[in-house]
Order: sequence, then structure tokens, then C-alpha cells
Amino acid sequence: MVRQLVSIFILLTVGALVLLAIRSFGSKPGSVAEETVQTATSQQPKDVFEFERAQARKTTLAGRLGGDDGLMAAIFFGGDILGSLEVCGCPKNPLGGAARRQGYIRLFAEQYPDVPFLHVDTGSFFSDRADPMTGDLAEDVVVGNEWVVRAYEHMKLDVVNLSYHDLPQLARCFQSGEFRRHVAETPVVRRFLSANVRSRETSYVNPQPYMIRELSGGRLNRRALRIGFIGVTEAGNYRGREFAVSDPLGAVRSLIPRVRARADLVVVLAYLPPERVESLARENPEVDVILAGIGRPLWLPPTTIGRTYIAYSAYQTKLLGELRLYREERSGRWRGVARYVELDGLIPEDPATEALRAEARRELAAVQRRFVERAMAASRRTRHAASGDGATFVGSRACQPCHASAYAVWTASGHAHAFATLQKAKRESDPQCLGCHVTGYEQPGGFLNVFSTSQLTDVQCEACHGPASRHLEDPTRPYGKVGVPEGCLPCHTRENSPDFEPLSYWTKIKH
Ligand code: HEC
Ligand code: HEC
Ligand code: HEC
Ligand code: HEC
Repeated sequence: MVRQLVSIFILLTVGALVLLAIRSFGSKPGSVAEETVQTATSQQPKDVFEFERAQARKTTLAGRLGGDDGLMAAIFFGGDILGSLEVCGCPKNPLGGAARRQGYIRLFAEQYPDVPFLHVDTGSFFSDRADPMTGDLAEDVVVGNEWVVRAYEHMKLDVVNLSYHDLPQLARCFQSGEFRRHVAETPVVRRFLSANVRSRETSYVNPQPYMIRELSGGRLNRRALRIGFIGVTEAGNYRGREFAVSDPLGAVRSLIPRVRARADLVVVLAYLPPERVESLARENPEVDVILAGIGRPLWLPPTTIGRTYIAYSAYQTKLLGELRLYREERSGRWRGVARYVELDGLIPEDPATEALRAEARRELAAVQRRFVERAMAASRRTRHAASGDGATFVGSRACQPCHASAYAVWTASGHAHAFATLQKAKRESDPQCLGCHVTGYEQPGGFLNVFSTSQLTDVQCEACHGPASRHLEDPTRPYGKVGVPEGCLPCHTRENSPDFEPLSYWTKIKH
């Protein structure tokens, strides 16, 4: 918690625009760049939720679209959707979702019919959650990932950077024998980009290391704008045999001359921690823009390092990044400003993308139902499996006789109906949600599914104190030490419990 709180975010909201830094780029190396640098002035540490609240006050679509400030072109950027087309499951102010992302872009195209634009992704569009039994991608994950490809095809993503999270699924569609079929069905896979992911074996196709996209027409008139994209990722937790992930900074360095020669603007899509993004900028001053994904539910404001403008995509694309590009008439140089559009209920959904999401949801629900049936069969075998010290889960009711007051506090708390919350949201079989809304999920003898382990729904005593059967046999043995906030943080994450504050939360359930 402390670590999370200490993370520093600086942001500035100006009217409808979130204007954080402006600079000129596209200048040739060696020339004296006249930069206008307007860095963030509010030095208060802020987080994405503060940002969301500030944005939420902009309650008109016109405000979200921003004014016509003479922009010539735009690049929309998102990232970290992790195999899901859904709006996030966050309890407060749910944001994001593919249909709103596309809905906003449609709106933009209507508002600015003469502004050419591209739509890119910084990476982690696939999930890499493994099935704990086999170690392979979980079955529902594969289904979800495939729907993301269909949606990105429909949304016509122009450049899609690969992160290490994307590689297990990539191995499925970049198999030499399969690749042709995937390209025929969903040509967007050709626009998967990475300069530092190479196949180890000839049986896998290599992603493109860089791509040049040309924008023209409309306000650009006949003077086309050529944008060179280079994609890189850190190696992260990828342990697969199919691909090798080399040094991202070296990969960028070796491509720059080739890309620079063919493009007016060099944009790196980077899936790296912020310190590495900054090193990349420092070591490669010829990069004009870095659009980066960091894989964490934090929102970092744009910064400028040397000649390079850096903007981060928002986790789960809850905010859609919009890099507006301006040409300075006199110098002919390009200038960029990133703004962020909150994807909340105000943004109309794109109907076709929404239809894809709904179809994905139906197929996922069917797969998850099959899971439950299989898990039920397995549970007959493992039901009496025990934790390390041999203790099993007994359920809260067993505590009531000896800890009546603690029991009374618990029944009155939200923890006692955490599962009903999932049922209301129709997500009671979704592994993405179960972990924190039941007792002992994925632990020996813990919650499996609502049929075979209905006594372990909700956040019961043992979700915090651990399995208690041994304690019941002998209450004098040491049992169940748990601290605040350590005992709370696995579930009360920044993402799922934005207002979590140890003292006031503990006071509500003190027993
Ligand atoms: C048969 C009566 C009995 C039942 C049933 C019982 N406990 Fe206890 N529990 C005790 C007693 C007695 C102590 C105090 C032990 C001591 O101080 O030596 C205790 C202590 C505890 C402690 C504090 C341990 C410590 O070291 O401070 C926790 C936590 C606890 N129980 C949780 C539970 C939970 C959870 C359940 C139900 C799953 C449960 N108990 C069921 C009798 C019981
Ligand atoms: C196993 C996951 C889990 C753990 C561990 C956990 N919580 Fe929760 N907590 C939840 C969930 C889920 C909810 C939402 C319940 C609902 O309303 O559906 C919640 C809600 C709450 C609420 C608001 C509901 C109410 O009763 O007013 C408080 C307060 C709270 N938790 C405090 C704590 C504290 C303090 C800790 C640590 C000692 C803790 N929680 C540990 C999952 C957890
Ligand atoms: C990492 C743990 C975690 C996961 C995973 C999780 N939740 Fe929660 N959820 C919580 C906690 C903790 C709260 C209580 C937040 C608070 O009050 O501060 C909560 C609260 C909620 C609430 C509001 C309950 C109320 O009535 O106030 C809803 C709805 C909800 N969760 C749905 C979901 C859905 C749907 C998913 C799956 C997409 C999910 N959650 C996944 C931990 C989690
Ligand atoms: C959300 C997590 C959570 C849940 C659920 C929970 N407890 Fe606790 N419990 C704690 C924490 C944290 C402490 C220790 C707080 C402290 O350090 O004072 C505690 C302390 C205790 C103690 C020791 C109290 C003392 O006087 O030292 C007992 C007994 C206990 N819990 C029993 C239960 C029982 C029985 C239930 C279910 C009816 C339950 N708890 C549910 C988190 C939880």
C-alpha cells in the first residue's frame, strides 16, 4: 500500500484538454531544436482515480472531443486490455471496453472528417493466464484472446505492439502452418509489431520489426506524413520456447537509421517499465515519440526527455490516448500533444464492436460453465485435500459458537455477501472475479465452484485467518494471525478498492 501510495504521479488538467507537455519534434539530429516545453506544473502526487474524478466533471461529449485547435493528424493509443473486450469490473466508475474505444474514434471521425488518424496498441492485448493444472493458456483465455483479434480486425488497428504477455497466444497464430490462415481471416495479425521478439525455431513466423504508415489527405493535403513505428517489449515473465526476446534498447538503436531515412516521424511503441522507457529516450535521441505501456493500473503523465516526447497508455485502456499532431507552418516541424479521453458511460458504444463483445461474452460463459462441470468432477477427488499443516476450510458458521461477537460483525459486513455481488453482476463463474469474492480460491480444499463448494462462497473468516480445522480441534494452538493492512491488500488493491485506507476500513469490520 505504502509503495503504491508513494508512486509519484503528476498531472495537469486544462479545460477539456489534458495538456501535459508540448514540444517540437521531427527536427533533424544536430540541428538546434527550438523547443516549447510546457511541463506539468502541479507537483502534487496524484493517481489515476484523482484524474478520473477531475475528468468526470467534463460531462459533455463536446468536452471529451476537445476543441478544434488546428490539429493536422492524430494517433489514438491504448494498451493492456489483457484479452478482454469488457468495460473494467471496477466497483466505482467502470471505464474502458472495446465498444466505447471504437465509439469515441467514430465520434472523432465525424467531428473532424478531414483529420487523418491512426489507431495503435502499446501491447498486452492478449492475456497469458495459465491453467494451473496444465501450465498452458487457460481455455477461456484462448477464447477471449481470439475475440480480441476479431475485434481488432473490426476496429482496424493500424499497428499492434507485442508485449511479453502476448507471446503465449502469439505462438498459436504465428505457427508457420497456421499463419496464412490467420492472415486470411484476420489481416490485422500482419500488423503485429516487434523489433526484439524473434522466433527461435523456423516453425514460427517473425513479427515485423518496424512499419511505415503514411497519412495523407484532408488537412494534410498532398503533403503526406510518413510515420515509422518500431515495437519493443521487455522479456518479463515469458518463459516459452517459441520466441526469444532480445535487448529492447539495442533493437531500437539498430533500426533507427533505416526507419529515420523513410519516415518524417519515428514513433516507438514500448512495453517497458518507466525507467527503461526513459533510458530508451536518452539513448536514442532520434526517436520523436514513445508511446509506452507499463502493465500496471497506474496512469503516468507525458514527459519530455531531450528531443523525445513520451506518453503512456492507460491500463485496460480505461482512458484512450489521443496524440494530436500539429505542423508549425514556418519551420515545417511537427509538434505533439497527448490528451486522454475517459471511456465512461458518456461515450456511445460502437454497435458492431458491442455486438462482438456480447458474442465473446456468450462464448466465454459457455466455456466457463464447462470448467465448472469439470471442476466438480475433480472436486469429488480433492474435496478433502488439506493445506500445508493439514488444516481444511470449515466455513464461518463453525466459528459462531465460540466467537459470537466476531461472527455478528462479519455477517453485517460486505464480506458476508461478496458472492451475491458477483451473482448480481452475472460473473459468478468468472475466474477473473472469483479470487477475491470467495474463500480459499485455488487453495487446497478451498472454493472451486458454487455447486461443489457452496459453503465457501463470500469472504469468510478463513479468507483472512486461513483454514481452521486444526484450530477447532485444539483452540490453544497458535492460529490465524493476520495484520492490517497486509491481510487486506491481496484483495483491496488499488484497482479494485480505490478508496482503501487501512484504519477506516478496519474500523468498519473490527471484531
Ligand atoms: C470450540 C471453540 C472455538 C471455535 C469453534 C473456534 N475458535 Fe477460535 N478461538 C477459540 C479460543 C478458546 C481462542 C483463544 C485461544 C487462546 O487465546 O489461547 C481462539 C482464538 C482464535 C483466534 C485468535 C488466535 C490468536 O492467536 O490470537 C482466531 C483468529 C480465531 N480463534 C479464529 C477462529 C475462526 C476463524 C474460527 C472458525 C473457523 C474459530 N476461531 C473457531 C475457540 C474457538
Ligand atoms: C479475500 C479477499 C478479501 C480480503 C483478504 C479482505 N477483503 Fe475486504 N472486501 C472484499 C470484497 C470482495 C469486498 C466487497 C464485498 C461486497 O460488497 O461485495 C470487501 C469489502 C470490504 C469493506 C466494505 C464493506 C463493508 O463491510 O462495509 C471493508 C470495510 C473491508 N472489505 C475491509 C477489509 C479489511 C480491513 C481487510 C483486511 C483486514 C479486508 N477487507 C480483507 C474482499 C476482501
Ligand atoms: C483483486 C481482488 C478483486 C477482484 C479480482 C475482483 N474484485 Fe470486486 N471487489 C474487491 C474489493 C476489495 C471490493 C470492495 C471495494 C471497496 O469497497 O473498497 C470489491 C467490490 C466489488 C463490487 C462492489 C460491491 C458493492 O456492492 O459495493 C462489485 C460490483 C465487484 N467488486 C465486482 C467484481 C467483478 C465483476 C469482478 C471481476 C471482473 C471483480 N469484482 C473482481 C476485490 C476484487
Ligand atoms: C477481512 C479479514 C477478516 C475476516 C473476514 C475475519 N477476520 Fe478476524 N481478524 C482479522 C484481523 C486483521 C484481526 C487482527 C486485528 C488486530 O491486529 O487487532 C482479526 C482478529 C480476530 C480475532 C482475535 C481478536 C483478538 O481479540 O485478538 C478473532 C478471534 C477473530 N479475528 C475471529 C474471526 C472470526 C470468527 C471471523 C468470522 C466470523 C473473522 N475473524 C473474520 C481479519 C479478519
